[in-house]
Amino acid sequence: MKPRGSVLWVRTSSGRCPVWIGAGLLGYAGRYLKRLRPGRRWFAVSSPPVWSLWGSELQRGARSAGLQLDTLLMDDREEKKRLDTVERLAEELLRCGADRGATLLALGGGVVGDVAGFLAASYMRGVDYVQVPTTLVGQIDSAIGGKTGVNLRGGKNLLGAFHQPRAVLVDPGTLSTLPLREYRAGLYEVVKCGVIGDPALFRLLERHMSSVLAGDERALHTMLVRSVRLKARIVARDERERNLRRVLNFGHTFGHAFEALTNYRGLRHGEAVGWGMIAATRLAERLGRVSRETVERIITVVRSVGALPALPRLPADRVYAQLFADKKRREADLCFILPRRVGQVDMVSDVPRAAVLATLRRLASDQAL
Ligand SMILES: NC(=O)c1ccc[n+]([C@@H]2O[C@H](COP(=O)([O-])OP(=O)(O)OC[C@H]3O[C@@H](n4cnc5c(N)ncnc54)[C@H](O)[C@@H]3O)[C@@H](O)[C@H]2O)c1
Ligand SMILES: [Zn+2]
Repeated sequence: MKPRGSVLWVRTSSGRCPVWIGAGLLGYAGRYLKRLRPGRRWFAVSSPPVWSLWGSELQRGARSAGLQLDTLLMDDREEKKRLDTVERLAEELLRCGADRGATLLALGGGVVGDVAGFLAASYMRGVDYVQVPTTLVGQIDSAIGGKTGVNLRGGKNLLGAFHQPRAVLVDPGTLSTLPLREYRAGLYEVVKCGVIGDPALFRLLERHMSSVLAGDERALHTMLVRSVRLKARIVARDERERNLRRVLNFGHTFGHAFEALTNYRGLRHGEAVGWGMIAATRLAERLGRVSRETVERIITVVRSVGALPALPRLPADRVYAQLFADKKRREADLCFILPRRVGQVDMVSDVPRAAVLATLRRLASDQAL
């Protein structure tokens, strides 16, 4: 039986990319893949833990439609998201006889997706690839939009390319094996989607967080569809992140600073974004840009995802300085994405230093809640 599912489209300069979403989809992957590239050679890129959980299901799905998958494995720890991993995989592709007609399939979280995407962008000057994300962050964020890349010593994601996947296959069933902390980290990004542009998604989280946390199939499906739709809409209007796409950074200006100050260890990225959304919302409150009711709603939903790990105890001016340390940001560009109401944010520059510092000090009392 074919699984129930939805299809959404991401429209970019390189064409239309379908995002298929449905529980059990992996077991039917071949049917979907066949529509894209009949007769091509397929290479799955994954990590040993993800492959051992979901690889055989994907293989089965591919075989049932007569597709043969070769497999390339990589270590998916963040510190291995480096150019030498891309190089090693490229050498392996070459040894396997992959030519420009090869198509890669990235099965894993954002690390696998970003590395495999960059490999696809650069191998023989570009081959096709399909994203098969297995984390919540992957399914609603990193697999959509075509940003690929690896880290440099000097910062995250500083070497990369825009390269749109040919398709994205989202099987919510894969989330059943995801550690709860990783799942929650992804939920903060879903909250972000609700705040920046989808009040109905936000209400779903407000009313049904316990079902979402329990992995309820219907709630999960709706949540995935709405989050992907929002990201697809934004990417379609601003593929190269010139302006509009920056609203996706709600919670990230502060969040990146918190991550860097904890050396990317104490906090998962999503958790840093959770704190970042609280900080941005408090800042908007201080600047009189948002009602008290909206502030309460946003903070309540962020907190309902789970207990956030404590922030490092650092002087506010140290965190403030870190806001400017992002290598991709010029000083004059410091811009905060601030909520106006649930479903609408503004890009605000020229925020007084004193207001940011006061917000950071206030966060200390938010921690005590
Ligand atoms: N390209 C983009 O637009 C974009 C957007 C957001 C994040 N990212 C990148 O994504 C990365 C983070 O990705 P992530 O949050 O998906 O984490 P991840 O790729 O680091 O995976 C987290 C952990 O979950 C494991 N895992 C993955 N799927 C699993 C499953 N189904 N069951 C059990 N374990 C599973 C992995 O082995 C890993 O240990 C970062 O490098 C970030 O820069 C990219
Ligand atoms: Zn993020």
